[in-house]
Amino acid sequence: MNLQEIDKLNEELATKSPREILKFAFAHFDNIAISFSGAEDVVLIEMAKSLTKELNVFSLDTGRLHPETYRFLDKVREHYGLSIDFLAPDSKELEEFTRTKGLFSFYKDGHSECCGIRKVKPLKRKLATLDAWITGQRKDQSPGTRSDVPVIQVDAGNSTPERTLIKFNPLANWTSKEVWDYIRMAEVPYNELHEKGFISIGCEPCTRAVLPNQHEREGRWWWEEATHKECGLHSANIKK
Ligand code: ADX
Ligand code: SF4
Repeated sequence: MNLQEIDKLNEELATKSPREILKFAFAHFDNIAISFSGAEDVVLIEMAKSLTKELNVFSLDTGRLHPETYRFLDKVREHYGLSIDFLAPDSKELEEFTRTKGLFSFYKDGHSECCGIRKVKPLKRKLATLDAWITGQRKDQSPGTRSDVPVIQVDAGNSTPERTLIKFNPLANWTSKEVWDYIRMAEVPYNELHEKGFISIGCEPCTRAVLPNQHEREGRWWWEEATHKECGLHSANIKK
């Protein structure tokens, strides 16, 4: 598929439900996987389970997730009978990083170096093996960086001249309320952190609960500028 075809498809699919978008994704790609963070994106797994016999799910195990998130990841694995591919950072690189900078350098010089080692590189390693991937990104998650998230896009940052990688964001046009109505209606298991005031969930040192009416993104990397609140997993969202 070329860029023009993807733009046209995006227009067509934008009016479809997340389930229909997933159905399209599985009908067109065999070598495709869901990128699961252990938060509300669990709805993708619930929707996808009846759409494909080969449900591939991977998770970036940064080593710094909340205990609740680790428990939830394993609960999802058992509940859906999945084998989740847990991707670890390169041990040599991580050891060198923590030996020189300690365990909390992100509070001093920003999160990009730590996210690069613990999230972005393991993600790139995984994406190099896939033809398409599926994320739980939504427009309403971050007005500053995600308001243009399409339901299907070429992942230019992870494509090569020989291989075009396609990225699906089936929940792009859903609101947080629609996600939660679905979780309740379908009795989908959820991360217990949501009962403790967390909305957006990332690594433990870099995520906190939000106050009533605070935007969910304010609970992530709260010591940094709002425009920097992307960790590099979704680099296309960061306007140059
Ligand atoms: S992040 O870039 O700020 O960390 P966010 O937490 O909003 O992302 O999640 C958006 C989507 O990115 C998730 O639905 C998931 O597809 C992907 N993602 C984020 N963190 C992880 C993770 N640890 N493992 C796998 N996928 C992830
Ligand atoms: Fe490191 Fe925080 Fe990024 Fe997790 S979110 S990889 S702990 S900087």
